[in-house]
Amino acid sequence: MPQATFVCADGTRRELDVAIGTSLMRAATDNGIDGIVGDCGGAMSCATCHVFVEDGFSDRLPAMAPNEDQILDYTAAGRQPNSRLACQIVMSESIAGIVVRVADPQV
Ligand code: FES
Repeated sequence: MPQATFVCADGTRRELDVAIGTSLMRAATDNGIDGIVGDCGGAMSCATCHVFVEDGFSDRLPAMAPNEDQILDYTAAGRQPNSRLACQIVMSESIAGIVVRVADPQV
């Protein structure tokens, strides 16, 4: 199973096995990753799954939908060029090994 690494606000790194087709938000909330809230369940309306995608992986992700682009303007931690919503990052072979830093704060 592909892996994803979450770097939490305190610097802790957690590697998770994530099934193909599962969002990083769902994987994080199911495994108690600190700082990923996912209040809206992936409906792109809460921005509490904000992550910063580490180098080398942003280009492998599908382009963001207009809704994701819009809500990223309202994140608590402030948007950066590598900001994405973890609910919109769906595990696939092409992003196996992805590393994301959890935005802090989320709310
Ligand atoms: S879980 Fe709400 S925007 Fe991602």
